[in-house]
Amino acid sequence: MPLTVGASLLPRLGSRLPPFGPRPLEAYISAITSGEAEPADLIAIGVQDGGAPLACAPLDALLPASASRLAESYGHSGKPGEIAESAISVADRVVRVLLLGVGDLSAGALRRAGAELARRCADGKTAVTDIGEHDAQAFCEGVLLGGYRFRIRSSPDEAVPGEVQLLSADPEAAVAGVHRATIVGQAVAAARDLANTPSAGKSPQWLADEAIRITAGRGVDVRVWAEEELAASGFGGLVAVGSGSVRPPRLIELSYQPPDPTSHVVLVGKGITFDSGGLSLKPTDSMKLMKTDMAGGGAVIAVLSALADLGVSARVTGLVAAAENMPSGSAYRPGDVISQYGGRSVEVLNTDAEGRLVLADALAYAVARLAPDQIVDIATLTGAARVALGGVYAALYATSDSLANSLVAAGEASGDRLWRMPLESGYRPSLDSPVAEIAHVARSGPGAGSILAALFLREFVAATPWAHLDIAGPGRAGADDGELTKGATGFGTRLLLTWLAGTPERAG
Ligand code: BES
Ligand code: MN
Ligand code: ZN
Repeated sequence: MPLTVGASLLPRLGSRLPPFGPRPLEAYISAITSGEAEPADLIAIGVQDGGAPLACAPLDALLPASASRLAESYGHSGKPGEIAESAISVADRVVRVLLLGVGDLSAGALRRAGAELARRCADGKTAVTDIGEHDAQAFCEGVLLGGYRFRIRSSPDEAVPGEVQLLSADPEAAVAGVHRATIVGQAVAAARDLANTPSAGKSPQWLADEAIRITAGRGVDVRVWAEEELAASGFGGLVAVGSGSVRPPRLIELSYQPPDPTSHVVLVGKGITFDSGGLSLKPTDSMKLMKTDMAGGGAVIAVLSALADLGVSARVTGLVAAAENMPSGSAYRPGDVISQYGGRSVEVLNTDAEGRLVLADALAYAVARLAPDQIVDIATLTGAARVALGGVYAALYATSDSLANSLVAAGEASGDRLWRMPLESGYRPSLDSPVAEIAHVARSGPGAGSILAALFLREFVAATPWAHLDIAGPGRAGADDGELTKGATGFGTRLLLTWLAGTPERAG
């Protein structure tokens, strides 16, 4: 017997949204509406900071006491994601009641609340909740991202997705929010899947094939540059870094071209499918997480897959510089001098600083061949960025204040947060080389490892407004936390989609 939740709000959108994108999600959201919800296993009632519950008339009627008395008796603080749980009996069913902290109802608080709800209604369970007139997109992103799981199993995974039925005081806005959240949730899940995939199955060509699969039918042209073309065109960084692996490097070029584009943005992603360090070999403990060293490139692929669905009006080109950094008899060496795209000579001092070498080629190619209005690169580039900022903030470097400010704002809005760092030119002399035009790391020097990497990259962007995101910290999470799940986070996907949907200006 269906659980009746009260007054009709709008015609129901459909019990499940169509499966946007390439990937089934672990949670679904019905933007609801109807007076009759399907039988629910859980009822979630939002509790604000200080313990005041959200008004929720249709659900209230089912409770043994008013929501505020329940919240009081549990001593519920309203902290985002805090849950107090009890059970009631409705007709012949046991229904769990969750008092769900929604904090100050900010987007960040709602994401965290949605994520905790998703964790309680995995595996085919249905939850119903009412978020009043508040931000449905943020809440639903939390549900979809918190419900994400990555599993490798010997037999087909038969887990059934959970479902959250959403009541809203502003159903039209809620439907739009659910729609956008589903597009974003799909993209982030795709980025997480790419980075969570073990490197045994993740060659540069595999990444290219996935880019084609994930963007298929989504308004994106994909060109995959083979190793011979890269060598012939002067991509000396990609070729050198990839030379130690039996699985050759690729440049994956993804083009999204809407009619009458407002500007042209190039996104460059680091796509190191495994970073052993090369001949400058990493110790095991540092190496074991390096399947995620293509997280920046994964985010770029995921972003490109969602632009058409979000109606982004800028032309966007994604460049994923993909290589596997391995030691072998054919590997590049400390002391080598390579020639980056465009011909600049670079002295290699440490083969573990490979990311900047593959990025430099892509940046130089973008400037020379694509003439974009703005370039943003994203890379798990330095342990130093992680040491400085931890897992919450990515390090942002930019040659343009307006570009930096718009990215920081998109970060705060999306939850992928950025902290701007200085491009301190005073450190640049430590990259001087006695043999080449520049060295890619300091021989000895001021520390500032993340800044030096950014200063190196800056040499390849000429006058194009440019921003660099070092995501070595937030690219992976050590444990489930709010909308983040242990492992790859898909960091940058939400940020860049939010930024691009706001239509970056032509002038940087
Ligand atoms: N992929 C690593 C950076 C990294 C470290 C990402 C930890 C995520 C977590 C990068 O290629 C690297 O090895 N960087 C070196 C640079 C050094 C050799 C100048 C580093 O940070 O130690
Ligand atoms: Mn490395
Ligand atoms: Zn790396």
